[in-house]
Amino acid sequence: MELLNALEWRYASKKMNGKKVPEEKVEKIMEAIRLAPSSIGLQPYSVIVITDPQLKQQILPVANNQQQIVDSSHLLVFAAWDKITTERIDDFINLNAKTRNVAHESLTTLRNKLISISQRSDEENFEWAARQTYIAFATGIAAAAEERVDATPMEGFNSVALDELLNLKEKGLRCLTLLPLGYREKEKDWLVNLPKVRREKEKFFITELA
Ligand SMILES: Cc1cc2nc3c(=O)[nH]c(=O)nc-3n(C[C@H](O)[C@H](O)[C@H](O)COP(=O)(O)O)c2cc1C
Repeated sequence: MELLNALEWRYASKKMNGKKVPEEKVEKIMEAIRLAPSSIGLQPYSVIVITDPQLKQQILPVANNQQQIVDSSHLLVFAAWDKITTERIDDFINLNAKTRNVAHESLTTLRNKLISISQRSDEENFEWAARQTYIAFATGIAAAAEERVDATPMEGFNSVALDELLNLKEKGLRCLTLLPLGYREKEKDWLVNLPKVRREKEKFFITELA
């Protein structure tokens, strides 16, 4: 299975070399992220794609000075919806009607279900959106590996400060994770040759509950 080879190849690179990832590879990774499944298909998240070196420099201190931020080619910021608004639900319903060429009336039950979900607290809806954002995030990690592009999953940053820096509140978003894409600098990366540490499958998978 090619995916297994890719997952063996990948690791969370600690030092990238600043080389650009070709746009067609980045496009493929982005498309894989866009195709990730989400609850009801709502996709309650966005991905911000940053290439501007100055902006990356500004992000660096907010992300604990992790050098992959500035040495990456593209920096992806995964951000979830802060609220599930009626406007967002209607955009989704309209997209469904258009894509599948069906009447809006046939989507009333779906819309009502989403409206009912949206009536939970904003925090609960954000947490729900966040869990789904991580599915897209993981898809991006796997897709990058398939393209032999290094990608370091990152939660080590100040999300409140990054929201502010990127004006995410205005977009109704709250950032959750970062994914710098680039290429490993083998000679300067302490992790590159270390074996992966993973729990043994006998302990990890539970095949008998008795
Ligand atoms: C949600 C999440 C957050 C992470 N945050 C960071 C981070 O801020 N900086 C970093 O260098 N690595 C980070 N990592 C990388 C993990 O430490 C790494 O994936 C884990 O140790 C397994 O090693 P491997 O990815 O090299 O196989 C993160 C990974 C995940 C999944």
